[in-house]
Amino acid sequence: MTIATARRRHALDLDDFTPEEIEEILDTAESMKEVLSREIKQVPTLRGRTVVNMFYEESTRTRISFELAARALSANVVSFTARGSSVEKGESLIDTVRTLQALGADMVVIRHNQSGAPHLVARHFAGGVINAGDGRHAHPTQALLDLLTIREHLGQIRGLKVVIVGDILHSRVARSNLWGLTRLGAEVTLCAPPTLLGPAAYWTATWPQVKISYKVDEAIAGADVVMALRLQKERMQAGLLPSLREYSRAYAITPERLARLGEKTLIMHPGPMNEGVEIWPEVVTAPNTVIDEQVTNGVAVRMALLYRLAG
Ligand code: NCD
Repeated sequence: MTIATARRRHALDLDDFTPEEIEEILDTAESMKEVLSREIKQVPTLRGRTVVNMFYEESTRTRISFELAARALSANVVSFTARGSSVEKGESLIDTVRTLQALGADMVVIRHNQSGAPHLVARHFAGGVINAGDGRHAHPTQALLDLLTIREHLGQIRGLKVVIVGDILHSRVARSNLWGLTRLGAEVTLCAPPTLLGPAAYWTATWPQVKISYKVDEAIAGADVVMALRLQKERMQAGLLPSLREYSRAYAITPERLARLGEKTLIMHPGPMNEGVEIWPEVVTAPNTVIDEQVTNGVAVRMALLYRLAG
């Protein structure tokens, strides 16, 4: 058995995935897409297993796609939000996890506004844990679905020029994509105003290959993929931005910027979008924009990961 196919219990970030393992998951996701294209979109793979979705932070696409993924594999699925649970009575995360274990959960999917919460859960839970986004730290399934979408359109990741534009400082999507994209050999440029990037040395210390740019027009010239990120006002301290208008003028993906890119340049966004802030509505509906496909691919990627973790 190679390391790539060795049994993995948790998916907390992509930092401990080898390129081979990532490619295997993407290959499995392709097979899952075939399942999802059938009239009956369900296979019995996880019949009798219980997956608990713990969402301590807002989510639409990630939560629904984890639910659909688990159901397509015939698992029992329970979705849990902090509101309405004993968390409101002050129950700790660890006690909640022990309770879920006592109730027979086999796998936990967790989203939390605190970085590191999934790692804490993984230490106290006997089954598998998948990180569905923790603070500004990591969002591995988003990165996997982004990689799948890029690979489907452009054939391979190696050698591609990928530019991530926007609120990088607060973005777990950017961090997990950096692991995935660099492991698979893409050239990544981060482009943001200095206040939404933080010290350049922080990025280059962890990902030495990464390039930094403060000028979007320079950064995106010749790009194969442009990934716009949401301005995360909920994680932002006051004073990081002069004004939304200035930010948009300098960093938004506008129709003018789109027109200067090649017709093959993929435009991506993890959603939810602030249209008119980081991306223009005309860009969202442009032919080379693959935002809906990213959402669709999320189900197949999550099926692939649940399947892999279930062993
Ligand atoms: C992202 C998230 O929650 O990290 N959304 C998502 O999962 N598709 C990005 C964001 O919130 O901006």
